[in-house]
Amino acid sequence: MLELAAQEIIRAWESFDRPRPRESVIDEALAARLLDSLPEEPGDPAAAMRDAGRVLDASISPARPLYLAYIGSTGLATGALASALASTYDVNLAAHAAAGEFLDGQALRWTAAFVGYPHADGAFTSGGQVSNLTALVAAREQALPGSREHGLEGRRGAVYCSREAHHSVVRAVEIAGLGTAAVRGLDIDTDRRVRPELIDAEIAADREAGVTPVAIVATAGTTLTGAVDPIAALADVAERHGVWLHVDGAYGLPAARTPSGAALFRGLERADSVTLDAHKWLGVPKSCSVLLVRNAACLNAAFGHRESYMLHRGDAHNPVDRTLEYSRPFNSLKLWMAFRIHGAAALRGWIERSIGHARRLAAMLEDDPEFEVLHRPQLSTLCFQHRPAGVDDLDEHNFELAQAVQADGRVYLAPADLDGRVCLRVCFVNFRTTDDEVDDAINAIRELGARVRSAPTDRRPPRPARR
Ligand SMILES: Cc1ncc(COP(=O)(O)O)c(C=O)c1O
Repeated sequence: MLELAAQEIIRAWESFDRPRPRESVIDEALAARLLDSLPEEPGDPAAAMRDAGRVLDASISPARPLYLAYIGSTGLATGALASALASTYDVNLAAHAAAGEFLDGQALRWTAAFVGYPHADGAFTSGGQVSNLTALVAAREQALPGSREHGLEGRRGAVYCSREAHHSVVRAVEIAGLGTAAVRGLDIDTDRRVRPELIDAEIAADREAGVTPVAIVATAGTTLTGAVDPIAALADVAERHGVWLHVDGAYGLPAARTPSGAALFRGLERADSVTLDAHKWLGVPKSCSVLLVRNAACLNAAFGHRESYMLHRGDAHNPVDRTLEYSRPFNSLKLWMAFRIHGAAALRGWIERSIGHARRLAAMLEDDPEFEVLHRPQLSTLCFQHRPAGVDDLDEHNFELAQAVQADGRVYLAPADLDGRVCLRVCFVNFRTTDDEVDDAINAIRELGARVRSAPTDRRPPRPARR
């Protein structure tokens, strides 16, 4: 089995080295087998492994160099192997885990050093959603003490962020019991960064109205355009009002100490908590997110507990006293292995290169009258529209173009909606992508754009209704 698995992994890694001419599809026999009912009897391991390999090969994988949709990753080989090792030992990180805890702690310290955040306390979690939720629950307990035990008791709280903050912030506020209406999604400037003066005014107005400010969330790399909110100015507002500052750097934070990114992250060291997803721009396989906090006691206040089935060793806490999750994989091992084997400088170099890809693409598109770049790239994300002469409905055209790109398979990207305009959105986070492949991507998009433009309308796929 191990040898078969190794063969599958090697085959996959070789196929990730360069883009494929198109995505592969599974044959009819395998598709039919995927509808079989639960087997009662043992099956042939080699056949099962072969089928698993074929299904994975025909699934959309962000590890391929021209997967540019959403925020992918790299399927970094070191992380994938660490993942297999971690699963093999299956350490239980909810309770005392001996040496595993030392490694977890070192991975936290290395992550903090990597991004330049001076506090190395916190926890590895299963994703940006859980990291943001963990931070906001801790912030709620600090702002509205006792809410963990008694609920809000009629008190109202508010959370301040950009209107382009990730929905995980809204969801976290909902789960924290504050209600969606507690989210103040505020307006952005021409660089799509939240305007601190609006947060300042909103906090003052809320205080006046008896609403307790719970947290300001700065997004350091918005999902839509990669905009980094002005962290230092938001830290000033947070300090002035005595409010928790959380930085959601799930996507962007790995760029914090790169030559091109550093200036954008000024003030990061003043945050009370920060989220970073290593399964995005640090390339390791899903999932691996990190929450770093200034004061770990806040996590204990929000999550600490004593149960008869989980006794504490003296005064020492159990890891689960600082996190939302009980059973969780040994995620830190993947990032630890990546730091240990590649070193921080190489990782920063790869990240810097992907910022370069977005700039390269923006420059090429700006020189082409058939395209409009819709914002200045700050990190590695770019939204743009194809605007060939003679097309009346550009939204329709760009939606169809995105579908045509996906169907063609050389490049994988997704459409997005920017200020009510349907556009193409790409995000470079894959360390395998090269400059030449960026050029190939835009050439493929140009070719498909021309084809979609001249296709008879009755041969086009129907566009789903927009919500
Ligand atoms: C800025 C930001 N925050 C949070 C998240 C949620 O992260 P996850 O999917 O790891 O839960 C995302 C996901 O794309 C994101 O872009």
